[in-house]
Amino acid sequence: MIVGIPKEIKNNESRVGMTPAGVFELVKNNHKVYVQSEAGEGSGFFNQDYQQAGAIILDTIGQVYAMSEMIVKVKEPIEEEYDLIQAGQILFTYFHFASSEALTKAMIKQKAICIAYETVEDEEGTLPLLTPMSEVAGRMAIQQGAKYLEKPVKGRGVLLGGVPGVAPGKVLVLGAGVVGIQAAKMAAGLGAHVTILDINMKCLRYVNDVMPPHVVTEFSNEFNIRKLIKTHDLIIGGVLLKGAKAPNLITRDMLKEMRPGTVIVDVAVDQGGCVETTRPTTHEDPIYIIDDVVHYSVANMPGAVPYTSTMALTNVTLPYALKLANLGWEAACEKDASLHKGLNIVEGKVVYQEIMEAFGWEEIVA
Ligand SMILES: NC(=O)c1ccc[n+]([C@@H]2O[C@H](COP(=O)([O-])OP(=O)(O)OC[C@H]3O[C@@H](n4cnc5c(N)ncnc54)[C@H](O)[C@@H]3O)[C@@H](O)[C@H]2O)c1
Repeated sequence: MIVGIPKEIKNNESRVGMTPAGVFELVKNNHKVYVQSEAGEGSGFFNQDYQQAGAIILDTIGQVYAMSEMIVKVKEPIEEEYDLIQAGQILFTYFHFASSEALTKAMIKQKAICIAYETVEDEEGTLPLLTPMSEVAGRMAIQQGAKYLEKPVKGRGVLLGGVPGVAPGKVLVLGAGVVGIQAAKMAAGLGAHVTILDINMKCLRYVNDVMPPHVVTEFSNEFNIRKLIKTHDLIIGGVLLKGAKAPNLITRDMLKEMRPGTVIVDVAVDQGGCVETTRPTTHEDPIYIIDDVVHYSVANMPGAVPYTSTMALTNVTLPYALKLANLGWEAACEKDASLHKGLNIVEGKVVYQEIMEAFGWEEIVA
């Protein structure tokens, strides 16, 4: 198969769909790989790295789309890319169709085979191509939170690890899923006192088993949250209700109960956030303050660490990309139930029911 790796052109996206290691594997399997010039630079991979792995470098994004049977990317195509996409071309990337009717209609019109990273689902019902980005965001949440706890950026002025003779800072983590556990682990590593909440006892039991004693679990309910926000310095939002908006576990009135300079990092912002006052921010302007509480709610946290994020993402996407290239999309999806769940739009037809429901469509609208 001929595989194309275009440069991401969405604002501030420095990740790339494949590393030189991925190119090497595809070429080893007798596929041809075109990489757009400088596609990997933001992630620390240069044209010569790709060439050494066996790729052919093309100058323009138009050439990559025109000459490839399968495009492997990171973000959904943006408007400038729509017309470059050809009928029958495989697009393997994050799409998040339910959040954009315009994108959905464009992909229907182009008649491509859209396989979405975010809906590839394994036997246990987990989403293997989303997990690494949650791992990155969870770990990063503590790094960012620690930074914004500093006084010059309006934080409480607390050092998370404390020092001999001074108690460490306190971190409250909402949700003991992928984001929550990674955040708790980082905070614990810094020496902070961590409280982690969930409604799923299985998750709490797991945390209780594997974490050190300064990470404590409590059941997530309004009573406990109202109590804990008064004494914690940094609050991490990592809850998820599959396919729904995140619940508002912290309401506007609760901000008044927190101490001035408390920091909230609401990682769940991409699902609407679990704090009523959360609104999406960007890496250029990541925080805002309401009632003396610092809010950090960047919707694409992994974008700030493209080197790590690209490697983490491509580690998990490559086996699927390889399967698609080796077998073609039909046989690959037939043989691999996880990959089959990734099929969202096929040659102009929406095949993923939740997309139809998201727009209230009964039949295909093109
Ligand atoms: N901002 C970013 O850049 C970024 C990056 C990656 C992931 N995310 C988002 O982070 C969120 C968490 O992702 P994840 O992979 O950790 O999900 P996950 O499914 O692994 O974990 C979510 C956890 O929330 C728990 N939960 C549900 N309701 C709860 C409640 N009322 N109280 C406490 N816990 C509750 C669930 O039981 C589950 O354990 C998602 O919204 C995801 O989209 C954001």
